[in-house]
Amino acid sequence: MSSLINKTTGLQKLIRPLVRSSLVPLVYLRTYYTVKRKIEKDENFLSKYLYNKIKVKGPITVADYMKDVLQNPTRGYYMSKDMFGEQGDFITSPEISQIFGEMIAVWLLNEWHKMGSPKPLQIIELGPGRGTLSSDILKVFTHFKALHKSSLHLVEISPVLSEVQAKTLCMQNNLTKNPKNLYYREGIAHHGIPVYWYRQLQDVPQGFSLILAHEFFDALPIHKFHKTYAGYKEVLIDIEDSKSSEEISFRYVLARQDTPMLKTLLKPTETRDHVEISPEAMLIYEQICKRIVSHGGIGLICDYGHNGSGTDTFRAFKKHKQVDPLLKPGTADLTADVDFNVIKEIATKNGNIICLGPIIQRSFLLRIGIEYRVKALVENMKDEKQIENLKHCYDFLTNESKMGDRFKFCAMFPSTIKKILDKYPVIGF
Ligand SMILES: C[S@@+](CC[C@H](N)C(=O)[O-])C[C@H]1O[C@@H](n2cnc3c(N)ncnc32)[C@H](O)[C@@H]1O
Repeated sequence: MSSLINKTTGLQKLIRPLVRSSLVPLVYLRTYYTVKRKIEKDENFLSKYLYNKIKVKGPITVADYMKDVLQNPTRGYYMSKDMFGEQGDFITSPEISQIFGEMIAVWLLNEWHKMGSPKPLQIIELGPGRGTLSSDILKVFTHFKALHKSSLHLVEISPVLSEVQAKTLCMQNNLTKNPKNLYYREGIAHHGIPVYWYRQLQDVPQGFSLILAHEFFDALPIHKFHKTYAGYKEVLIDIEDSKSSEEISFRYVLARQDTPMLKTLLKPTETRDHVEISPEAMLIYEQICKRIVSHGGIGLICDYGHNGSGTDTFRAFKKHKQVDPLLKPGTADLTADVDFNVIKEIATKNGNIICLGPIIQRSFLLRIGIEYRVKALVENMKDEKQIENLKHCYDFLTNESKMGDRFKFCAMFPSTIKKILDKYPVIGF
């Protein structure tokens, strides 16, 4: 522990006051708001919808399938429920312990200070889930009196989750009815700053921004390609011939012709047996880079992912177990690993962005001093149970067999600040 502490002395100045502050981790004992919607329960709604769609149009792409399953306006997986935590389908790092969000906040503060703490400051989070990460970040920024002339911008497609986020973050909020507004919800955070909700990043105002995406890109639709003796073919989803009209099931098939996406997305140099590409994610990487180059800022992406070597990663999670993504669509989360190589290629193609990483979560958190923060907190705790809890959370976040190795971090900076970064390198990478 001590050797790592020594390497993080720059951050210690920021971490130490947190120890004395009231920011004691709630660990597992977070209290959550749940928002219930009256939606008629029909687990087969999406199966029937997709069955009819495929009957009329023929087999659909995996991207089309993902979009319908996750984003269908009324029954999409993300659109009608809160799926986080022990009772849900999965748990994410910010939900495990508030030390995760605090460490991210301290990292952001540190890097933003090096840039001269430009104001006004926009904090943008893509896919904020329950709003927990943003909430933990605002707490730390408030503590360091860094929220003057700041605003929070959340990009969220789910009406239900936007409501949960508003309850987590705001003392007051309301849906906006003015069609001229690009945001659909607005509020005032407990920390006093304005909060806005958008359906897409391009609607967020331009300006110096700290842009975060934690477990967002893995939820975006992907196209799947498979190498055959006759070259690459796009993988499509078709209806499985079923025994009875009540039993709808789906299967993978290969497109006979070269699809438009195969022609545009697949590189001629590709060699992998299975390739997954998300054009939607690529578009958003471009938008993040453009914002950072034109208006200044920092991008931080954290997700499941690989370095261009990943193959068949499309999968589903239900009640914390991996399940068949084609089974009972809409009842499980669908995900595919993020290709960090693509992020790097897009970010660095014009030489305007410095792109660091990917680095595994364990290394990132250790390098930015999580051990120091946990050690200091433990020293200030008396309750053995609380200490055990904290250690358990720390292990969950950093152990390589848990979240420590599965998740990777990548950061983006405008290359105009190269001289500053040469003198004061970015911590954590
Ligand atoms: C896996 S959850 C991650 C939540 C949160 N970042 C966390 O780590 O706890 C994905 C989030 O992205 C949102 N989301 C998924 N697809 C989206 C899209 N196309 N545009 C905006 N938000 C989206 C979901 O509603 C959800 O809030």
